[in-house]
Amino acid sequence: MKLNLLFCTVAALAGPLLAEAKATINDVISQLESSQSPLLQYPTQLTQNIVPKPIHSHNDYWRDVPLLTALSFGVVSVEADVWLINGTLFVGHEQQALTSNRTFDSLYIQPLLKVLAAQNPKNEFTVNIASANGPFDTAGDIPLQLLVDIKTDGIEALPVILEALQPLRSLGYLTTATNGTLKRSAVLVVGTGNSPLELVKELNPRDYFFDAPLTRLTDPSLNTTWDPTLSPLASDDYEVAVGWNGIGNISNAQIANITKFVGDAHSRGILARFWDTPGWPVHARDNVWRVLLDNGADWLNADDLEAAANF
Ligand SMILES: *[C@@H]1O[C@H](CO)[C@@H](O)[C@H](O)[C@H]1NC(C)=O
Ligand SMILES: *[C@@H]1O[C@H](CO)[C@@H](O)[C@H](O)[C@H]1NC(C)=O
Ligand SMILES: *[C@@H]1O[C@H](CO)[C@@H](O)[C@H](O)[C@H]1NC(C)=O
Ligand SMILES: *[C@@H]1O[C@H](CO)[C@@H](O)[C@H](O)[C@H]1NC(C)=O
Ligand SMILES: *[C@@H]1O[C@H](CO)[C@@H](O)[C@H](O)[C@H]1NC(C)=O
Ligand SMILES: *[C@@H]1O[C@H](CO)[C@@H](O)[C@H](O)[C@H]1NC(C)=O
Repeated sequence: MKLNLLFCTVAALAGPLLAEAKATINDVISQLESSQSPLLQYPTQLTQNIVPKPIHSHNDYWRDVPLLTALSFGVVSVEADVWLINGTLFVGHEQQALTSNRTFDSLYIQPLLKVLAAQNPKNEFTVNIASANGPFDTAGDIPLQLLVDIKTDGIEALPVILEALQPLRSLGYLTTATNGTLKRSAVLVVGTGNSPLELVKELNPRDYFFDAPLTRLTDPSLNTTWDPTLSPLASDDYEVAVGWNGIGNISNAQIANITKFVGDAHSRGILARFWDTPGWPVHARDNVWRVLLDNGADWLNADDLEAAANF
């Protein structure tokens, strides 16, 4: 019925053009596009046609427009460095880069609320839908991964961050582990930097997770059973863990390091990310990205999002 209606209206719109000699299908498409027909519009078009990719936007707030630029490239994971100063969470790489209005709320929470409102319209078709879609129109089940890199004292910052997440939480947008069961939603928040492991372990329900140390998942001195309800993600410094600079041949031992660490994560249901990968020369960066993906790493850590998206 809907399809019929669409067909009739498209035919009606196209009619005059089709009657003209030599109108091509592209002419008809252009005509329809400029017609502003409501039949060509739907609620979740904000991220129409964007294909999500397992790319992590390193220091995402460095982009002219944080978050949205990453989403426009289909980047699924973004990172914000946060500083708790006088009770407010500021975002920036170092203190010299902070301003009074670049806050965790203004750069991340508010824009995310707008994007997710667009992707989760309230209407007669959605009244019975309990779960929230993520930011990507083409793959609503993929959550945005938001890494929160705490730069100041983690024990002081964590309660303030949990409070800052409340607008997302109250709309059901946060992936949450309750009594050890994970329920996926539109956003997955993972703490890194000074995030306090022991406090994160105590959270139940938990909607702030912990970026596990990828190269130490088997280290008993950390007293931690790493699993996805605590750590859906594990990361470590590529330079230390592997070290190949992307020029010449990677050694078998270096490959073995990658596969061991990736295997340690995957056997626990955890995704693996290496950061501090070389950014230049470009061919070396690409060689490292290729070796990591070929050997099971789950995320490309990228500064140049366009290059990573086209990789
Ligand atoms: C923090 O508060 C102190 C005391 O009120 C003030 O002097 C300082 O400028 C504030 N710092 C920032 C970044 O707002
Ligand atoms: C943001 O803060 C900076 C300096 O702290 C100021 O120059 C700028 O006008 C502020 N912008 C807005 C939109 O408030
Ligand atoms: C979690 O466990 C506690 C204690 O057993 C129980 O009271 C609570 O209802 C459980 N919550 C959920 C969502 O299952
Ligand atoms: C691990 O547990 C032991 C015994 O409870 C304790 O002495 C040690 O400090 C803990 N280590 C860490 C890293 O928490
Ligand atoms: C990488 O592998 C080598 C050789 O097996 C090992 O000596 C080294 O400790 C590994 N690196 C890390 C960070 O574990
Ligand atoms: C690098 O690997 C290729 C392919 O295995 C091999 O032909 C080449 O000799 C190697 N180069 C060096 C410097 O070992």
